[in-house]
Amino acid sequence: MAVPITFDQPPNTANLQGRSVLVTGAASGIGLACATKIAESGAYVTISDLQEQAGHELVHDLSSKGYKVQFVVCDVTSYQAQVEMFQKAVEFGNGKIDIVIPSAGIVAEKNLFDMVPEEAPTLHSPSPPEPGFSGANVNLHAVYNTCYLAMHYFRLRRDGADTFKPNIVFVASLAGYVGFPSSSTYSLSKFGIRGLFYGIRDRASRSVPPVRINLVAPWYVDTAMTRKPEFVQSEAGFLLQVMGCAPMERVVDAVVRFSAEESLHGRVAGIFPHVNEDLGDDIVGGYGGIVLQKHMTIVTKEVVKFMAEAEMRGDFLSVFSQYNLLRI
Ligand SMILES: NC(=O)c1ccc[n+]([C@@H]2O[C@H](COP(=O)([O-])OP(=O)(O)OC[C@H]3O[C@@H](n4cnc5c(N)ncnc54)[C@H](O)[C@@H]3O)[C@@H](O)[C@H]2O)c1
Repeated sequence: MAVPITFDQPPNTANLQGRSVLVTGAASGIGLACATKIAESGAYVTISDLQEQAGHELVHDLSSKGYKVQFVVCDVTSYQAQVEMFQKAVEFGNGKIDIVIPSAGIVAEKNLFDMVPEEAPTLHSPSPPEPGFSGANVNLHAVYNTCYLAMHYFRLRRDGADTFKPNIVFVASLAGYVGFPSSSTYSLSKFGIRGLFYGIRDRASRSVPPVRINLVAPWYVDTAMTRKPEFVQSEAGFLLQVMGCAPMERVVDAVVRFSAEESLHGRVAGIFPHVNEDLGDDIVGGYGGIVLQKHMTIVTKEVVKFMAEAEMRGDFLSVFSQYNLLRI
């Protein structure tokens, strides 16, 4: 088994100097925090997002600090827009692309059970409207395309003396390991990223040039996504109330570590509520099972304690009705 990654020392970012880096969904949240940290390390960073104004403001702000950044507006659900995004990133990064971080993501559709019409069907009632799939279009299909384009552009001619392995850091989620009851497309898309990761990681190290692929699986983090009222009021919001968020710095630490450290390939960092840990997500590590079980047991214990305390205080019903948890 590979030696577990340790997170007690900050990552060595020396390798990022002068690298050409593309971060999608980088006008906000995790993408923004990672892009900023990588720009601070001296890389050429292409910040891409569909939020045009926020993207331009951000780049203006970072450029005024001397960082090498550009903004490219891109809706990642358009393949053609992604092609243009990559071409601009390559141009900005002196003819190459070294690191790709697909962070664009949304929570869109709800749980399928919450989307079926309230009224039960009869034999003659009209069929229900299509449920929608936009969560998976952004979080999975678009990431698949980003990954494909990365493989393509990683093969641009590189300086022969430069042995740095181009790499992808997937921003998945713990929802790709334990399910996410508040959105079926979120859950399936994050499991899908994990499937994509498993499917390409062995081939990646044998490709020319060799490519490194790693994945971060964060617990909830305080971003625009988790601040939305519909998120706060969902079952996910309940877990947030009990456990709190994992700090952004730990997500950035893992993403930057994977981007920069040449020894890391095929690995997963679990960003748990209280700590980062190597998920051991391979055949020897039981595909993350043992580490995941340890941390989810902690979550379960804290949730049970929270519920018992609410019951003793007599506000069980008022606390749980707001998260739709009483229907279970
Ligand atoms: N916040 C969390 O708790 C959490 C936990 C685990 C994983 N994640 C993942 O982290 C990633 C970033 O999420 P975040 O929490 O920073 O949310 P966020 O909303 O702050 O950032 C997401 C960014 O993606 C952009 N985006 C959305 N759709 C897009 C599209 N079609 N094309 C281009 N850009 C698009 C948004 O404009 C936004 O700037 C997502 O993939 C999310 O699933 C988040």
